[in-house]
Amino acid sequence: MTGIVRSIAELRGLVAAWRREGAGVALVPTMGALHAGHLSLVEAGLSRGLRVVVSIFVNPTQFGPNEDLAKYPRQEAADVALLSAAGAHAAFCPAVGEMYPAGHATRVDVKGLTDCLCGAARPGHFSGMATVVTKLLLQCLPDMAMFGEKDWQQLQVVRRLVRDLDIPVAIVGCPTVREADGLALSSRNARLSPAHRAAAPLLNRLMRDVAAKVAAGVSPTPLLEAARGALAAAGFGPVDYLELRHPETLALAEAAPARLFAAAWLGDVRLIDNVAV
Ligand code: PAF
Repeated sequence: MTGIVRSIAELRGLVAAWRREGAGVALVPTMGALHAGHLSLVEAGLSRGLRVVVSIFVNPTQFGPNEDLAKYPRQEAADVALLSAAGAHAAFCPAVGEMYPAGHATRVDVKGLTDCLCGAARPGHFSGMATVVTKLLLQCLPDMAMFGEKDWQQLQVVRRLVRDLDIPVAIVGCPTVREADGLALSSRNARLSPAHRAAAPLLNRLMRDVAAKVAAGVSPTPLLEAARGALAAAGFGPVDYLELRHPETLALAEAAPARLFAAAWLGDVRLIDNVAV
């Protein structure tokens, strides 16, 4: 790997050097604590013959006041070792002051798409995410940027901001990577207790079951009610949402084409997932 760059100027210098060699560039934005899901995004860039730069930045503006910013895992050396082994070309690891210098006053707000699902449960989250992703795209100016489908709403918000702000980059959505038991990989899974880890795959199992029945023409309302009951019986805490929505507009849906979205708590860990209907 070329190495770690920490300033926007160094990042731009590196990308300019790659461009002079005629290479294309992919950006993989992350908050670190990397797992196989992130590495699949790196691979998506490498398999297209691009130089891959992975940003590692725990973005404070996308965490609410009562959220897990302080507890979010930070393990830069281990992340960089994983990226080197995966064949990534560079890691961009800016400090908070590099991304948000004193006086930083601009936010990117994507209306509509951010009112529901995680936007309703986490006010301000998408504005912080959209702001940092816009900055990263403009700092790096890649040909492509890779995002996981696990954060489906995030992917739609990023697609919209790129279109609305005329940012010349292709946004590539990559399939969710799962444990063998179906649990979607997440940096937060490491915080699950053994009992909660054992219960966690139920979420995806129930979602796939509901999705299959809705695709076969069954009305979603009683199915979603029963799934909520099964989650509570298995020890899940509050379910922030379990909803069927249109895959792109995110408007509530009653039938296919749709996507089933869930966010549910197990102890102090909030799991999210989505499946196609
Ligand atoms: O999905 C994430 O890890 C973050 O929301 C992102 C896209 C890196 C922005 O901070």
